[in-house]
Amino acid sequence: MDEQRHNRQEGSASKRGIAKLLSFGALSLFAMLVLSACGPDGEKPYSTVSPASTQADDIHSLYKLVFWLSLVVFVGVQFAIVYLSLRYRRKKSDTKRPPQVHGHKQLELVWTIIPAVVLLILLVPTLNILFDHDAQAREGTLQVDVYGKQWWWEFHLGEDQVQDGASLDVVTANEIVIPVNRNTVFNLRSNNVIHSFWVPQLGGKLDVIPGHVNSFAITPTRTGEFYGECAEFCGAQHAWMRFKITVVEEDEFYAWVNNWRTSPAVSANQQEEGSGVIQAPQKFSVCLSCHTYNGAENSKALTGINAYANYGPDLTMLACRETFAAGMMEMTPENLKQWLLDPDSIKPGNYMSTMIGPGMAVEFTEEEADEFVEFFFSMIPEGGCMSPDGWNVSTGDAPAATPESTEATPAA
Ligand code: HEC
Repeated sequence: MDEQRHNRQEGSASKRGIAKLLSFGALSLFAMLVLSACGPDGEKPYSTVSPASTQADDIHSLYKLVFWLSLVVFVGVQFAIVYLSLRYRRKKSDTKRPPQVHGHKQLELVWTIIPAVVLLILLVPTLNILFDHDAQAREGTLQVDVYGKQWWWEFHLGEDQVQDGASLDVVTANEIVIPVNRNTVFNLRSNNVIHSFWVPQLGGKLDVIPGHVNSFAITPTRTGEFYGECAEFCGAQHAWMRFKITVVEEDEFYAWVNNWRTSPAVSANQQEEGSGVIQAPQKFSVCLSCHTYNGAENSKALTGINAYANYGPDLTMLACRETFAAGMMEMTPENLKQWLLDPDSIKPGNYMSTMIGPGMAVEFTEEEADEFVEFFFSMIPEGGCMSPDGWNVSTGDAPAATPESTEATPAA
């Protein structure tokens, strides 16, 4: 009698367990569907499953292989559990212990060999892709040197095979443009701490290590804007160390290079009327102690590996950037003004605020800040700013640029 009641209780407990499991399963499925519908491709910039380069596509193919193999193993194991537990259930008539299979040689062999085969199936294409990518990193047709700074990225466009190996000599920050369908090699360097360079849609993560150069290739297969970020904790503003790679057709890429290189002459010194030199705000010379600006007189702040912590981004074509302070602030006149008045209130601990801001060596009045904002927004190139859909400022068509026309003024 007691035993019967006990069995009934056990039965209803297990029913409750199954009901719980089912509702948890349904909830997970629902959450998965809702989250996966969180917007089209373009709104998931950190998606690792929408590759836009041959390298990201290779990585994605490995991911798919792992996924399908795991699915086969998962389904197989679930079926085996259900089948075995039904087939070998204890019957009413069973009174003795069932025969024990401990130390069963064939079984041991089977469940050693199956995982080994699965791992082997994964190993072969993985090694293949590793060696392939390594070779591609040594065969680029365009070199980009990347410097991980605290807390932003400096990009130098270097040697270009289309220009017979000449250097493009373009220096920019956080936002860079590269041509579609070309193998561009990114050489990662740091002179401070370890960072990690990651653009999910274009390639895998790679560490940026002081005293060592890590290179990898990106061959974009479609145009568009691809977002990246630092993936290794590197200090207070690590979360605001984002960047963007804009992939465009080759002629637009050279037009952008050309725009950067032909940036007009600028000076903070008093200019004569009609000198052809653009008058920058008087305090621009203060900026140039940390920043570079192509075309500016006395633009000679250190860049690259030699730069000290407080040296800042190149400011050429600043107003063409979508954001500033490494993805933190949208590029609007109001935000830029706020930054100039008090950079520390926006990005606490950034090295610009060791010199600029309330109570620091250089403090701006509202008027001075306005003057700077106006200056930067007036320095948009004639052909407008680059965007993946073409040129988004209607001051004319994109400059007719051919690879040869990039021989204009090199960086200051
Ligand atoms: C002490 C060195 C220093 C001085 C002087 C300085 N800056 Fe900066 N600036 C920096 C650093 C470092 C950053 C990068 C901050 C970050 O994103 O972490 C920066 C960032 C910026 C940015 C954002 C750029 C981008 O693309 O993210 C602007 C704009 C800027 N500075 C303008 C100016 C102007 C204008 C002046 C002169 C009035 C000036 N800075 C003076 C060091 C300096």
